[in-house]
Amino acid sequence: MGYKDVYAAWKADPEKFWMEAAEAIDWDEKPSKALFDKGDNLYEWFADAKCNTCWNAVDRHVEAGRGEQTAIIYDSPITHTKREISYVELRNRVATLAGALRAKGIGKGDRVIIYMPMIVEALEAMLACARLGAVHSVVFGGFAAHELAVRIDDAKPKAIIAASCGLEPGRVVHYKPLLDNAIEQSSHKPEFCVIFQREQEVATLIEGRDVNWHGFQYGVEPAECVPVEGNHPSYILYTSGTTGQPKGVIRHTAGQLVALNWTMKNIYNVDPGDVFWAASDVGWVVGHSYIAYAPLIHGNTTIVFEGKPVGTPDAGTFWRVISEHKVKSFFTAPTAFRAVKREDPQGEFVKKYDLSCLKAVYLAGERADPDTITWAQKQLNVPVIDHWWQTETGWAIAANPLGIEALPVKLGSPSVPMPGYEVHILDEGGHEVPPGTLGAIAIKLPLPPGTLPNLWNAEARFKKSYLEHFPGYYETGDAGMIDEDGYLYIMARTDDVINVAGHRLSTGAMEEVLAGHPDVAECAVIGVSDTLKGQAPLGFLCLNAGCNRPHDEIVKDVVRDVRNQIGPVAAFKLACVVDRLPKTRSGKILRGTMVAIADGAEWKMPATIDDPAILEEITEALKALGFAK
Ligand code: COA
Ligand code: AMP
Repeated sequence: MGYKDVYAAWKADPEKFWMEAAEAIDWDEKPSKALFDKGDNLYEWFADAKCNTCWNAVDRHVEAGRGEQTAIIYDSPITHTKREISYVELRNRVATLAGALRAKGIGKGDRVIIYMPMIVEALEAMLACARLGAVHSVVFGGFAAHELAVRIDDAKPKAIIAASCGLEPGRVVHYKPLLDNAIEQSSHKPEFCVIFQREQEVATLIEGRDVNWHGFQYGVEPAECVPVEGNHPSYILYTSGTTGQPKGVIRHTAGQLVALNWTMKNIYNVDPGDVFWAASDVGWVVGHSYIAYAPLIHGNTTIVFEGKPVGTPDAGTFWRVISEHKVKSFFTAPTAFRAVKREDPQGEFVKKYDLSCLKAVYLAGERADPDTITWAQKQLNVPVIDHWWQTETGWAIAANPLGIEALPVKLGSPSVPMPGYEVHILDEGGHEVPPGTLGAIAIKLPLPPGTLPNLWNAEARFKKSYLEHFPGYYETGDAGMIDEDGYLYIMARTDDVINVAGHRLSTGAMEEVLAGHPDVAECAVIGVSDTLKGQAPLGFLCLNAGCNRPHDEIVKDVVRDVRNQIGPVAAFKLACVVDRLPKTRSGKILRGTMVAIADGAEWKMPATIDDPAILEEITEALKALGFAK
């Protein structure tokens, strides 16, 4: 069956399609049906089944006689360490860790925050939670203490599992002080913290609260997998919305198992035993789905890579890892390739390695620009597949499903909708627009298994953010179009979310930080085009009347504040002081127009602008920063 047949088979009978996909999963109690309509546009999948994620990701492969296969390869050019963990070893380690957590009172439904860098123990912590039916929430290491505190207050974890430090090139990230600071800031306090001490930095433990990762596992009874309901939350992953309060995306257990397992062959074209590598971080959705869960559920070997595309030690790192570990399918963000291309445009490093094992490359996280795709195609001589998805969906909405059929690649398009997703392009009024016309991208409900059923403790926000604008549809927050052949094009966000180096960030959250500065009366943050990172945040500050501090001092202050409150990952380095912000007569800041001016794109004077003269001042300020050319 080709793509069209598979998609048509899903559309004709979604229930049959997903029940068949569910046969690849081990169930403690089989689902009686796939879709459960909860009313009010809320849906769940395989809700009456019982299963366990850790069993499916680890134990069942051991039971099937594949215990000696490598489950995880740890490759850290930063620490010069490599390590392989077999499925049986992983099973034993995770069962012991789960046993230790259980002995400290962690059970089904308890939340556990995981704050760890790219080390094997991060995956083990996730799997140990899954084993017990505890709900993990992994927080990316590049966030500041305040962001961690916000997540602690929302998820209300019983425990936090953290490492003593993370390692960025040339810099140790001191996780433990960040963790202590976050717990100090948060109103909710965890009962205990488990600290994994790394060789690079041994953290001071707080007596009565902190336990040592190794010490607390000593002599405990290993824990068995706890069967949970199909609609039991597997995890909460916070992602940026339009405000400083992140959205807690929930993933249900059974839907995730079925959907992710399906994608491994059909989209990524790997078979059990093949090596699959997603060069992301466990703190992001790509890390959840394609470093941790999908490859393990499907019985692949996954790679935990602690390094960067360049500088650890050079622009050949990706190729070394692929060649050394025989990676068949490789997943990264376009930014990473842009970084490599900038240092090695002619691909001199590519030539040093035997990459015959590599069969395909997948790009996601941000728009894949045609230059980057053609460069990668030329260097690697394999299909380079752009695919589009979100934290909310957990897996690709649109892709080129190489395991079903290699469709022609169209540069600038992540190809076609995957089974489960009926994608529509709508105008403001919710009417379908003709092919080739730009509009809001919406997905007809229900969303498929493995996608978000709700937001953690925020059902009203879930409905308002995603379901209310276009009744009967999920609003993706992306704008784009579909061409005559059914290929999708993702052009821009329709909200205040920007994408910096494949990281999703909220300009609203940055504006909250800027507005908190005592000299700032009003502010706006926009995402300007950046040749390496796709977008970069840029702030405009209007100062309080009578403020006569030098502007560069205030700019330095706000750059520091964003780094301290949101984190280095925000990469907020640019800001300028202006007298006024351009607004509509109703007071809405014209961020889109400012972005167009900054990027040197064509723009029209908005009909509703309050005072067109302000745009001249904005243009001058942008020129002074090297934009608006
Ligand atoms: N813990 C702590 N700090 C982190 C971090 C982490 N896990 N990840 C990034 N940071 C810090 C960096 O050290 C940097 O700090 P600095 O301002 O002191 O230099 C800052 O956050 C910005 O980091 P980053 O976005 O990684 O930019 P960079 O300039 O260091 O590197 C690239 C540029 C392109 C090499 C890098 O962005 C990259 O590898 N991008 C690919 C992203 C990716 O795979 N995304 C996954 C989504 S699918
Ligand atoms: P995240 O939730 O961090 O995965 O970010 C999701 C957002 O990143 C999407 O809503 C898009 O705006 C953007 N994005 C992800 N993948 C792509 C892609 N292949 N093409 C264009 N934009 C993408």
